[in-house]
Amino acid sequence: MKGIILAGGSGTRLFPITIAVSKQLLPVYDKPMIYYPLSVLMLAGIKDILIITTPHDQVSFKKLLGDGTELGCNFQYAIQEQPTGLAEAFIIGEKFIDKEKVALVLGDNIFYGNGLVNLLRSKINIEGASIFAYPVKDPERYGVVEFDDNKKVKSIEEKPAKPKSKFAIPGLYFYDNKVVEYAKKVKPSDRGEKEISTINKMYMEAGNLEVGEMTRGMSWFDTGTVESLDDATEFIRVLQNRQSTMIGCIEEVAYLSKFIRKPDLKKLSKKYGKSNYGKYLKQLSDSII
Ligand code: G1P
Repeated sequence: MKGIILAGGSGTRLFPITIAVSKQLLPVYDKPMIYYPLSVLMLAGIKDILIITTPHDQVSFKKLLGDGTELGCNFQYAIQEQPTGLAEAFIIGEKFIDKEKVALVLGDNIFYGNGLVNLLRSKINIEGASIFAYPVKDPERYGVVEFDDNKKVKSIEEKPAKPKSKFAIPGLYFYDNKVVEYAKKVKPSDRGEKEISTINKMYMEAGNLEVGEMTRGMSWFDTGTVESLDDATEFIRVLQNRQSTMIGCIEEVAYLSKFIRKPDLKKLSKKYGKSNYGKYLKQLSDSII
């Protein structure tokens, strides 16, 4: 399976913070935001990853992440000229996806929790589409999925004024290769975007959509507003300091996913200088026998 991180968009809800800096490069506590969704794809076992950015931000993402070799991965880069919708990721990434299945994660979504790795790995061989439902207080901000009494998906709506359920659809999607064909059929919505919800509806109508509920043991943050960015930062800070483990440490994830070996980890720790992130990596590589 291949992976795509969509890290485009203009981040207008975070202005003036994002006037000169890409949202997905902003810090979420001690590391750039994109480390979190990247580590989610890597935890799923995905090594081939396309990073889609705005034209002017690409150079910064390349500086940060390179070609992925040192993490045992293969990172490629592509451009989304205008923020015209998530569904476009599959058109921009058509060549990259080739004949494979593909996971899409949004560059501003953070996932953490018990059972996440098993959940992710269970989606790698998906036939059709697999998305998630997460109960929130403000579903109108998201794609919303409604279930019938038998827990079957009844409807999917993008940012409905009157949500039919409290279940938001997080920005993590697994698709078979049909997604490219479906993406090409998506027409722009009233807000002028080719919506991912339209693709999910197409799979639903074809009877090929699976919706897994993210349980209470799992946390999902989107970081599109100042408040949610602040919440995510606070969450990561508290959890990391209490547990003395890192969330979204891409080198650790590469090691745990067996993409790299112990000597590689040691070498990589030097890249981060005297920072706590660097110290954590050094301690980690020292502790591995
Ligand atoms: C996008 C999707 C929406 C999804 C959300 C998750 O919204 O369109 O369906 O629930 O991401 O973060 P946007 O980031 O465009 O507001």
